[in-house]
Amino acid sequence: MSVLEPVTLTTPRLILRPLIEADLPALFAIFSHPEVMRYWSYPALTDMTQARDMLQRIQASYQDGSAVRLGIALRCDGVLLGTCALFNFHEASRRAEIGYALGRPHWGNGYMHEALTALINHAFASLDLLRLEADIDPRNTGSARTLERLGFQKEGHLRERWVVNGEVSDTVWYGLLRREWQNTR
Ligand SMILES: CC(C)(COP(=O)(O)OP(=O)(O)OC[C@H]1O[C@@H](n2cnc3c(N)ncnc32)[C@H](O)[C@@H]1OP(=O)(O)O)[C@@H](O)C(=O)NCCC(=O)NCCS
Repeated sequence: MSVLEPVTLTTPRLILRPLIEADLPALFAIFSHPEVMRYWSYPALTDMTQARDMLQRIQASYQDGSAVRLGIALRCDGVLLGTCALFNFHEASRRAEIGYALGRPHWGNGYMHEALTALINHAFASLDLLRLEADIDPRNTGSARTLERLGFQKEGHLRERWVVNGEVSDTVWYGLLRREWQNTR
């Protein structure tokens, strides 16, 4: 049983919404880019079939409630900038993990900060979660800055936790508590 349902959230510049078939070319562009995928948990996409499989998995998770991965689009023209997600939901402990990626041309504009602020508000206020977690590669300094600006705290370093493309890498584990988030808003 899960409460992770696809929703639509708006921010001053962005709309976070369920992903649809028409997003496939943009999804492929984002998740085939080597810089975007440098520290991701699976290799870069190499063809559209993989993008289609990815979209099918995302839409299946909308159905079974195991995860919610939303597209991040510009309100002004609808361009899909990236995605953000809640997954690894633990109902009894009221926690979930977050994941996120922006297309390479869109880094450095504060878009992910804005999108995750809305997603975190949704997780803590509407879904009544108490804790959010993030698992990042220690070399992913851009992602660490994004998390720390949002108030996530570094909680641990797990050695040799991932093997992607034959490369072994560590995890830095981050956590954000609802009470901390509320105290800073
Ligand atoms: C992680 C990732 C989303 C960060 O992208 P980002 O654009 O730096 O994200 P933010 O929204 O936090 O943007 C903050 C940056 O925008 C700048 N910025 C510009 N205009 C801004 C605005 N109006 N508001 C806030 N920040 C703004 C900030 O100064 C900051 O730059 P800095 O980090 O050089 O100081 C991006 O690097 C990415 O998609 N990486 C690949 C996927 C990935 O690794 N995901 C995480 C896996 S765990």
